[in-house]
Amino acid sequence: MPHNNIKNDTDVLIIDDEVFLGETLKDLLEDEGYRVALAIDGESGLRFLKENSCSVAVIDIILPDISGLNILKTIKDSRIDCLPIMLTAYATLETSINALNEGAYAYIIKPYKVEDVKTTIRNAVDKQRLSRENRALLKDLQEINKNLSQANARLTELDKLKSQFLATVTHEIKTPLTSIIGYTNLLLQQKNQMLTQAQMDILLRIRRNSQTLEDLLDQVLDLSRIESGKVQIHLETFNIKDVIQEAIYIIEPIVMQKRVAVKTVIPDQILPMQADRGKVKQILLNLLTNAVKFTEILHAEIIIQVAQTSDKITLSVKDQGIGIASEDQKAIFEPFCRADSAVSKKYRGTGLGLSIVREFVNLHGGTVCVESELGKGSKFSFTLPLRQDNLKPPVHQ
Ligand SMILES: Nc1ncnc2c1ncn2[C@@H]1O[C@H](COP(=O)(O)OP(=O)(O)OP(=O)(O)O)[C@@H](O)[C@H]1O
Ligand SMILES: [Mg+2]
Repeated sequence: MPHNNIKNDTDVLIIDDEVFLGETLKDLLEDEGYRVALAIDGESGLRFLKENSCSVAVIDIILPDISGLNILKTIKDSRIDCLPIMLTAYATLETSINALNEGAYAYIIKPYKVEDVKTTIRNAVDKQRLSRENRALLKDLQEINKNLSQANARLTELDKLKSQFLATVTHEIKTPLTSIIGYTNLLLQQKNQMLTQAQMDILLRIRRNSQTLEDLLDQVLDLSRIESGKVQIHLETFNIKDVIQEAIYIIEPIVMQKRVAVKTVIPDQILPMQADRGKVKQILLNLLTNAVKFTEILHAEIIIQVAQTSDKITLSVKDQGIGIASEDQKAIFEPFCRADSAVSKKYRGTGLGLSIVREFVNLHGGTVCVESELGKGSKFSFTLPLRQDNLKPPVHQ
């Protein structure tokens, strides 16, 4: 049988019982550089297809044992990866056209024109090559996708562990720190001249630095809690005016020190809002602290403005401070990120305030943004829904 000495990887298999025609077609295609096999009946042709990899099968419609259409059906049913082309005489043309509906790629009419056959075979081999390449690519992509998903799950897990670790370490440092502050306060309260003024000054410094450290630990703790998804929203209905007053009261010492004026622009008719009151206050405090901290000129103004629609409330904090370069405006919301300017670096800070603002705003399903110009000032605004009916937990990536 001609097909016995054929290599495994074949471009074209010809199944034709007219041996002379089959051999001629084989020679023609081999001259074109294809690897060609020839089978002279349906059964050996089908066996070949099942046992070898073959791109295209040219199948005569009329064969002595199995009809070309049955071979076509077997190719389809057994999912043999090969493009069938029907070889047909004028008498069986209609059958061949029907075969197209059954999955045949094309038909070649006998006697055929050499150029037509070459074109049809070239197109079929190319199509088959492309579709195999596509399938291989798709498989690679699926594999890559699977690996990425696994890596992503691992990263999420590691991120969670990191947050838990951070929370534990922070908590462990806070405990002795609280007692340092407590004992320092105790010593400072002893007004019985046991301590010299110099010693008192040292104690005051210890207390100030410990408190700064405590603030920092609180912020890290907040952030790690948020990242590990442990922060929850406690909804209350309240008037934003009260929260603004409380925040202004808290920042009064630094406001007086900097000699800035804090003004409010609040509409007379203000609807109560539903949100986590404590978190809204902290958002406002972080923005106000920044506004005061990054203002250099004396007697500058800081304006807190409220605007409300039927379903949203927007609060903005506008200052006349050092401003933020446009290239830094996105990054400053990332944890530990501070604007890259010498003026900004003069002021102490860890770069956590705004990331907490962003996370708290996100928890409420709100948005936060900044408008700023270097040397002129900044305006931070956040918008929250007035009510939290559809609140969904935020997605942490
Ligand atoms: N109102 C502002 N004016 C100018 N720069 C600002 C202002 N607010 C924030 N920035 C810039 O954004 C950076 C990040 O602010 P963020 O509040 O996150 O950190 P921080 O104030 O440096 O430290 P922390 O708030 O943790 O004590 C600041 O370091 C500063 O460079
Ligand atoms: Mg800050």
